[in-house]
Amino acid sequence: MKTLFKVIAVVTFSAGTLVAPVTLAEEAVAKAPLYERLGGLKGITVVVDDFINRLVANETLNKNPAINAGRKSSPAPYLKFQVSQMICETTGGPCKYTGQGMKESHAHLNITEKEWDVMADDFQKSLDKFKVPAAEQKDLFDVVARQRPIS
Ligand code: HEM
Repeated sequence: MKTLFKVIAVVTFSAGTLVAPVTLAEEAVAKAPLYERLGGLKGITVVVDDFINRLVANETLNKNPAINAGRKSSPAPYLKFQVSQMICETTGGPCKYTGQGMKESHAHLNITEKEWDVMADDFQKSLDKFKVPAAEQKDLFDVVARQRPIS
């Protein structure tokens, strides 16, 4: 604890501004890896489970015959596992994602802008359902957007 206060004092002093120690401590918490802020694998798997359930039942997405066929070659439990591993790894967690790359696994699906937006909407519903805070939702959307398999 003493060391923490020393660090805070040095940072505060060297930054040349008067910042209350409690503010810096709060910032340190806010900067914890996104993986931890999401509640680790327990938080991630609960959201992914709900999200994939919505996606596989989504009529707009299933109208795309390639997406519909993909539901058979990659069953929901498999997708839940792979997507959880991927999110765990890309948010700074201890997992090692071993599935295919996003471009590789989605190229044949011909995902349109509209389908991407429909997916994002389902994702939002799952995040809201489990009350993921706004800051973590934004950070997670940024991670997902970087994985975007369409141009
Ligand atoms: C509109 C958006 C999306 C649709 C319609 C979609 C649909 C699918 C389908 C149908 C498959 C199975 C493909 C097959 O077996 O032929 C698949 C695989 C996969 N998707 Fe998506 N996906 C979308 C976005 C995403 C996003 C945003 C992520 C990650 C955050 C993601 C992660 C994965 C992963 C990890 C796999 C498994 C890759 C493997 O088999 O190794 N997908 N997706």
